[in-house]
Amino acid sequence: MKLTLKIWRQDGPADAGRMVTYPIEGVSEEMSFLEMLDVLNEDLIAKGEEPVAFDSDCREGICGMCGLMINGQAHGPERTTTCQLHMRSFKDGDEVVIEPWRAEPFPVIRDLVVDRSSFDRIIASGGFISADTGSAPDAHATPVPKDNADRAFMAAECIGCGACVAACPNAAGMLFMGAKVTHLGELPQGQPERDARVFSMVGQYEEEGFGGCTNLGECSRACPKGIPLNVISQLNGDLQRAYRHRS
Ligand code: SF4
Ligand code: FES
Repeated sequence: MKLTLKIWRQDGPADAGRMVTYPIEGVSEEMSFLEMLDVLNEDLIAKGEEPVAFDSDCREGICGMCGLMINGQAHGPERTTTCQLHMRSFKDGDEVVIEPWRAEPFPVIRDLVVDRSSFDRIIASGGFISADTGSAPDAHATPVPKDNADRAFMAAECIGCGACVAACPNAAGMLFMGAKVTHLGELPQGQPERDARVFSMVGQYEEEGFGGCTNLGECSRACPKGIPLNVISQLNGDLQRAYRHRS
């Protein structure tokens, strides 16, 4: 395939940035989207030009590093991560516009790389449990009802990619935070800090400058892990519960 790539180039956080057009040839439909960018970068390096900076790590849909806006959609036209998107989703002659996540709490570091440490600070504020040190307890020492275990596992699938924020017109990160609160709140081990967790995480969220949720649902539609909108209801319910306990 021959494609025309339009890629956001930005030399650093203070640079205004610009779109740059790169024609590319010989793209195989078996390539992943990131492999296609690797080919472009090899070509740019061979020509003595600066390669396009983008993030990736696992390239298996696990780490959440590889988020890109592709033709205006978070992670592109399939409901998956950018590393798991393949070029068979495009056709010969296509124009592909590639941009970083656009959200104030995710400032651009360079080209397509954004700083998602705001998510890390939300996790650090409350996304943990108190656990005794020592040897691991037997697997069945703490019974967990199956429905709760299933819902905790579902929420734990959140990989912190930030697509929910990038897709939301309000730059809200409620789906991410709802997933973290739901994951721990469904389990017995998550109960001791349940109220403190939601207060801390919501407080940190507000400090980071994320927007408010207006129930548009773009976040859940863009989420590569299919996290449902109802984790946000659970987050709101936990916050109300924590206020009741405090009053
Ligand atoms: S909720 Fe989904 S879109 Fe948001 S960070 Fe988690 S995995 Fe990514
Ligand atoms: S590189 Fe890890 S999820 Fe894409």
